[in-house]
Amino acid sequence: MPSPRITSLGARLVFNSRGSKTIEVDVTVNKKFAGRACAPSGASVGKLEAQSFPDNKPEKALAAFNENRKKFLGLDASDTKAAYDALRKVDDTENYSKIGGSVAYALSIAAVDAAARAQGVPLFKLLKPRGPYRFPFPLGNILGGGAHAGPGTPDIQEVLACPVGARNVMEALEMNFKLHSELRKVIESIDSRFTYGRGDEGAWAPNVNNDQALEIAEKAVKNCGYTLGRDMALGIDFASSSFWDEEKQVYDYARQGLKRDTGEQIEFANRLMRDYRLAYAEDPVHEGDFESMAALTKKNPATLVTGDDMLVTNAEMVKKAVGYGACSGAILKVNQAGSLHDALLFAKECTRNGIKIITSHRSGESSDSHISHIAVATGSKMLKTGVLGGERVAKLNELLRMSEYGLIAGMAELTPAT
Ligand code: PGA
Ligand code: ZN
Repeated sequence: MPSPRITSLGARLVFNSRGSKTIEVDVTVNKKFAGRACAPSGASVGKLEAQSFPDNKPEKALAAFNENRKKFLGLDASDTKAAYDALRKVDDTENYSKIGGSVAYALSIAAVDAAARAQGVPLFKLLKPRGPYRFPFPLGNILGGGAHAGPGTPDIQEVLACPVGARNVMEALEMNFKLHSELRKVIESIDSRFTYGRGDEGAWAPNVNNDQALEIAEKAVKNCGYTLGRDMALGIDFASSSFWDEEKQVYDYARQGLKRDTGEQIEFANRLMRDYRLAYAEDPVHEGDFESMAALTKKNPATLVTGDDMLVTNAEMVKKAVGYGACSGAILKVNQAGSLHDALLFAKECTRNGIKIITSHRSGESSDSHISHIAVATGSKMLKTGVLGGERVAKLNELLRMSEYGLIAGMAELTPAT
């Protein structure tokens, strides 16, 4: 089969799920097969992430793309390294600040999207030609606060559901939808004025504090008839960098009106992991505190103690974390890294070190579903992509379609929190 060569490409500005402008790229290979990808964007952004747009202006990213567009013609679209090398020739900054991480994201993914069509294979198989393949467990945001929701909601960004007892994708999705729906009833039972408001990722945004958030999530699990930690596990994305006060050296839970120093934060995170048998705890300490992250990782072997802002999908940061013994889990967000090749290097480094990968959406998303394929191709244990909202369900439904190839042998191996 001739290699799938890029014969034309173009980009445009479109809007993401938050109504903000972003970049979408179209790539055609062999004059016939079209691929398309749209860059997502975060609200709680790690300090060392790729910069989405030059000077934070989507228009500048589009102009940079148009200026350099022709340099990508003729590339083998199936070769993620070729796209990376071409991008690096245009932009040699560490964080893609010249061309924008959004361009790196959209171009590199549109290229493999088109290549997969040209080769007549699903994207996950193009990225990882040989199995075994496994489905990630859907990790869904059910109750949100922090940077994704307004005043009155918890300081903690996300309480998440992970249906660890599910035997297949359909069952896993049904369990998360059921829990999300049950949680609304529990919130209504304690707050008759609840408006059904939801945050950026489709999670309920109730007027509760951090402790109540966990209590009502646990109640909803029980109401559904699930055993916590066995059928359905809970997880938390603390996103704690967003309320870490560097100057005062405290975690400022301003909405709840309390502060915790580092020792108290570790104690709090340990307690939640133990009491709620959490399968998952993301960024429980701020992005620079590798020592505390190591202490939490050591103390909680049944929980994926996961770095998001801490690792920013960067292979070098994984090496640093491994040096400390920090992190048993790692969030993979392609747009934190820039191009798909950068993210795949990160995945390789995680796998080499026994760190479990959780491929993730961003709070500002498109209706694309490439990350479902990237999760399978990287052997991710979980796919973090919310529960409700068209842009979230798009990724979940793609998992169902992917099951039709008959190539994916069941759910990932995941040790439930026991
Ligand atoms: P973000 O949130 O996309 O707003 O960064 C998701 C996360 O922190 O995991
Ligand atoms: Zn996060």
